[in-house]
Amino acid sequence: MKDEILKLKAETLKELERTKDPEALRDLEIKVLGRKGRLTEILRGLSGLSEEEKRDVGKLANEVKLELAAKLKEAKNHLLKFSRAEGAVDVTLPGEKLLRGHIHPITKVQNEIEDFFSSLGFMVLDGPELESDFFNFEALNIPRHHPARDMQDTFYIDHKNGEGEYDLVMRTHTSPVQVRAMRKYGAPLRSIMPGKCFRSEATDVRHEHTFYQVEGLMIDQNINLSHLKGILEALARHLYGPETKVRLRPKFYPFVEPGVNGEVSCFVCHGQGCRLCKSTGWLEIFGAGLVHPNVLRAGRIDPEKYQGFAFGFGLNRLVMLKYGIEDIRLFNSGDLRFLEQF
Ligand code: DAH
Repeated sequence: MKDEILKLKAETLKELERTKDPEALRDLEIKVLGRKGRLTEILRGLSGLSEEEKRDVGKLANEVKLELAAKLKEAKNHLLKFSRAEGAVDVTLPGEKLLRGHIHPITKVQNEIEDFFSSLGFMVLDGPELESDFFNFEALNIPRHHPARDMQDTFYIDHKNGEGEYDLVMRTHTSPVQVRAMRKYGAPLRSIMPGKCFRSEATDVRHEHTFYQVEGLMIDQNINLSHLKGILEALARHLYGPETKVRLRPKFYPFVEPGVNGEVSCFVCHGQGCRLCKSTGWLEIFGAGLVHPNVLRAGRIDPEKYQGFAFGFGLNRLVMLKYGIEDIRLFNSGDLRFLEQF
């Protein structure tokens, strides 16, 4: 019987060496040490032996049992330590992706528009976001205390000029860069001026205190409304496809005369009427017109010699239409669930 026990021990140790996964190890443990295992079976045969033999064989069986149990435990720990869960390297796994940021949807569309106008020979210009009252309003034919200022309430900065009037504002539109550009480059002139604007708004899904506009300006001799329409049409087709139509309807802006409201045919329903265009078939996009002589004068350009057109539009609105975004406040929210969709 002793031989049998020693043989079992030798066999088990051999098998243990070959076993490489935790499940096989468990099977082995059950097969040898379990309640119906081989060692238990051998011990059952003890009853037929003399007292002395019983003690002798029993002692050996116990020793072997303890030894095998210890060896099994050791093997189990070893396997666990080197299993995948415990940090071993599995070279067959695909690599971990690096998280990369990406361009904000506003910037993306702004880049697209800059490329388009650059291809037409327009400069891309910048202006200050903290602007003087003069450039933001006065030079654009909006005098102090004139009711036209009501259209664009802003954040006045606590800084006064010699007459005790506030003279610095967060710019309410990109139009002041028109006058800065005229003064710097003179006529003829072709440029667009994208940038951040600010208004004191009660914010809601369509109003935000910080937003983006793109301004356009072209000054030369014999410029008229058809040039404006041509450029706006080219832009609209570039953005919304070759079928897109543009229509201009009169609208008042202090810095243009005549002033127009530029609309594009709805790119969803192609003029049939849908939810996006509120069943009108048209989407309001641009403010535009022929530059007012007072604005040319503020830019030190002679209105008798030169004319020009100007236009401006809200970049946020353009991006909202393009991607079907329904709340303007999402752009500045920093909400990654929103941003990661682009
Ligand atoms: N500055 C105007 C606004 O913010 C938009 C605008 C209208 C710009 C007409 C223009 C223009 O250049 O000609 O509402």
